[in-house]
Amino acid sequence: MSFEGVAKRFDGDEARDHYAARDLSLTIERGELVAVVGKTGCGKSTMFNLLIGLIEPTAGRVSVLGVDPFHRFDALAGKISVVFQNDRLMPWRSALANVAYGLELRQMPKAQREAIAMDWLRQLGLDAHAHKYPHSLSGGMRQRVSIARAFATDPEILLCDEPFSALDELTGARLREEFRRLVKETHKTGVFVTHSIDEAIAIGDRILVFRAPGHVAAEYRVADALQRQDEESLKRDILANMGDAPSTGNGLPV
Ligand SMILES: Nc1ncnc2c1ncn2[C@@H]1O[C@H](COP(=O)(O)OP(=O)(O)O)[C@@H](O)[C@H]1O
Ligand SMILES: [Mg+2]
Repeated sequence: MSFEGVAKRFDGDEARDHYAARDLSLTIERGELVAVVGKTGCGKSTMFNLLIGLIEPTAGRVSVLGVDPFHRFDALAGKISVVFQNDRLMPWRSALANVAYGLELRQMPKAQREAIAMDWLRQLGLDAHAHKYPHSLSGGMRQRVSIARAFATDPEILLCDEPFSALDELTGARLREEFRRLVKETHKTGVFVTHSIDEAIAIGDRILVFRAPGHVAAEYRVADALQRQDEESLKRDILANMGDAPSTGNGLPV
């Protein structure tokens, strides 16, 4: 995956255009698990939406598995799975049917797709809840279902946009550990967007520090960085590179 000199401009109010990404260049190798960390509003989700081909860059090139994700959206179908902050489960489907959905779209026979879905639910400790509907599951369990759903289609790339930030600390920490383990065991490529420095250090092989307007201000190979400095000093470094938060209308940091 790569971004080369990418810009994304949104039309602003009062004729002031607004850059959500500018001079954004980065490369992510296959098999890497990269955490993207930055303050709210710095352009992380914009980068994410460019990666999944939801929006078109104003300038520069985005390449995912060798193709332009915006113009070749179909070519990437099934090769990328996404986990968002909001679980986006279908409320009228059981956990099992949610996880099996992507395989159903591929017309996999019911018994086979349900076996795969059940296996992923088991890996996430949810086999006993497979036939429950999302409304009767906790937030943490729903996010486990989303993770199972993301893995069930056996994609090459997993992309997460702040998937655990609405969960309590302990639940989030557990899920992040399991997510990292599963990505590594299955040898997938992962991009994990977060505003939490702790989370970025816990998840990433490498950390890209984003700064507004969406560009990479610094990057760290976590294992190497932790040989050179202790975790506290790495956190301070990352925080310094995140820069000032863009201000909101009421003068409070967002
Ligand atoms: N569709 C849009 N139209 C106009 N401005 C947008 C749009 N999406 C994002 N932005 C702006 O781009 C900047 C980056 O947003 P975003 O990528 O969502 O940041 P993050 O995910 O890091 O919080 C923000 O200033 C945001 O208000
Ligand atoms: Mg965001």
